[in-house]
This record gives sequence, structure tokens and C-alpha cells, in this order.
Amino acid sequence: MKKIAVFASGNGSNFQAIHDAVESGKLRAEIKLLVCDKPGAFVIERARKAGVPVLEFSPKQYASKVEFETMLHEELQKNDVDYIVLAGYMRLIGSVLLKHYPERIINIHPSLLPAFPGVDAIGQAVATGVKVTGVTIHFVDEGMDTGPIIAQRAIDIQDGATKDEVAQKVHEIEHEFYPETLDKLFEGKR
Ligand code: GRF
Repeated sequence: MKKIAVFASGNGSNFQAIHDAVESGKLRAEIKLLVCDKPGAFVIERARKAGVPVLEFSPKQYASKVEFETMLHEELQKNDVDYIVLAGYMRLIGSVLLKHYPERIINIHPSLLPAFPGVDAIGQAVATGVKVTGVTIHFVDEGMDTGPIIAQRAIDIQDGATKDEVAQKVHEIEHEFYPETLDKLFEGKR
């Protein structure tokens, strides 16, 4: 059974979905740690309620990304973590973690990459007027939402749909698709 650390910065609905899937046995993995770079984020409350250990830190208190990623790496090693699962972690992963976790860092992004990388992907899709968008799960490299794609799921955007409506649909998909894809990956079925 793979041991994972979930990295998140905000609301944490994907953290919650991953946790619930672990509890119900749909995702065969163990969440060793929630890592959060935003003290006070709602995801921390979710993790505490779920009984998942929390590592919260302020990047500002470190001289560089190398320094805080070195601290994170030590904690991940102590917890025997196999995979880093990004779930709304609003920060680029740097050289230290990339080096120690090659093809072991996974991200979910709310668009069909390579369309609409970066922030507010759903807003970008709605503003552009595309008729189809979706969700991408990919390995993380040094770029912004650029690593090798693991899986994608598309959704239609109905004419006149608002950003909130599209976002709701995207999140519904994410909450099923992320645990399901992680389970396949961890079981070597991709
Ligand atoms: C999700 O849409 C995910 O695709 C993106 O950030 C959002 C996080 O939402 N990377 P939540 O914090 O899991 O609710």
C-alpha cells in the first residue's frame, strides 16, 4: 500500500475526496501527512477532523525554496512517503522535491492541458468560450502544469453557462476522478 502526502493550500475539497476514498477502500493508499503552505487554510481543519497529521509552514520564514523543500523532504522521509499528491497546492515544486520524487509527484488541474495552465483555468475556459473543458491529472515537472499527462476527463460547457456552474461540474468530476486515477496508478494499472 502506497504512502502519500497530500499538499494543499486552500479549501481542500480534493483532500477530502481523497481521504474519503481511502476510508471507504476505493483508494488503496495511506495518507501520512497533509502539507499546507497557508497557515489557517480550511484544508487544515478538514485534516484535523479526519485525524490526518498536519505539517503547516510559512514559506516566508525560510530563506529560499531549497531551504523549505529540504525541511519538507526530511519530514516526508520520516513518514516513509512514496508519492506526493498535489491538490490545490498553489506553488511550483522546486528542484529538491523533484530530484527526490521523480515521477512520484502528481497534480490535478481543472482544464484539458495544455489548454489553460496556471491560475483560474475555469475562468479562462469560460471567458474564451470553449465548448469543452475538463480535468487533467499529470506528473509534475519544473514547469507550470506541464508534466506528462496521466489521465484526462472532458466535460461539455453548455451555451451561457456561468463560471460557477462550470466550476461545480469540474469539481464533481475531480472528486471521483482523482482518487480513481491514483488508485490505478498505485496498483500499476495505467
Ligand atoms: C482544484 O480545482 C484543482 O484542480 C486545482 O485547485 C483546486 C483545488 O480545490 N489544482 P480544493 O482546494 O481541492 O477544493
